[in-house]
Amino acid sequence: MLIVSGTHGKHIGRLIAGKLKSGYSALIVDKFPDGELRVRLSCPLKGKNIILVQSFYKNISDSVLEVILAAETARELGAKKIVLAAPYFPYMRQDKRFHSGESVSQRIIAGLIDRYFDAVLMLDPHLHRKSKLQGIFRIKAQKLTANSLMADYIKKRIKNPVIIGPDGESYKWASAVAEMLGAESRILSKKRHSSYHVKVRLNKKIDLSNKNAVIVDDIVSTGHTILETAKVLRRLGAKKMYCICVHGIFVNDALKKLKKANIEVVSTNTIPSKMSKIDVSGVIGESLQQI
Ligand code: R5P
Repeated sequence: MLIVSGTHGKHIGRLIAGKLKSGYSALIVDKFPDGELRVRLSCPLKGKNIILVQSFYKNISDSVLEVILAAETARELGAKKIVLAAPYFPYMRQDKRFHSGESVSQRIIAGLIDRYFDAVLMLDPHLHRKSKLQGIFRIKAQKLTANSLMADYIKKRIKNPVIIGPDGESYKWASAVAEMLGAESRILSKKRHSSYHVKVRLNKKIDLSNKNAVIVDDIVSTGHTILETAKVLRRLGAKKMYCICVHGIFVNDALKKLKKANIEVVSTNTIPSKMSKIDVSGVIGESLQQI
């Protein structure tokens, strides 16, 4: 097995290779003067199972094109099996036509991956209206989760936690983590008006006295979901709050805003940042052993 990391997979590809004691190589990627991508695989590939590691959090379009160019090249050069390991896989939230004429990107991007890979695995994809990867991808697709690692992190560091899910979809993370901890939990409801404008509501009161409120979600992007949730919790008397998420995308000034609101944020390392304190390379490595 050879682990090959793409531009946005290096931070975790090396860790996965270390855990598996397998070969490791980084994809060589640069751009021609006009902006076209040039991708080079620098290891012998004939007869090998190649795991391309890419986390699609930045320059997403280039990151997608990069793995497609690499996968097809690996196939031409004799690779046996080509697997995409995506700590963070994008386009999962666009799972329906929200406005007329809009692309349902989830299925289209999955179709591209189907065309070039033999299998795909990803950490905590944002599954909503389609609840299984099998209904989205045609190739073997495996969903992994960081839930037990997040629960472990909370257990070791935060006393008397109450787990809060900011919206209906977050129960897959918040309720699961609460159950592992034997902690109380509440799932709030959210209405999204635009990318930066959300409203969060509490349906059933919760007692936060002598408790630490821990908001658990899959993605933090602009941070507005968490900021609005924190407003609700503050009205209930919460002082210091925590947010534990799988994918810390943190666009624009999200981290600054969360810090200003006195929210301590921790994410996994599907996306590297100074908040990525929970290592998921072991979960990915274990599942690759079965491939
Ligand atoms: C969507 O429902 C996700 O679970 C997150 O709640 C959402 O992506 C967070 O986005 P933002 O940080 O921009 O509010």
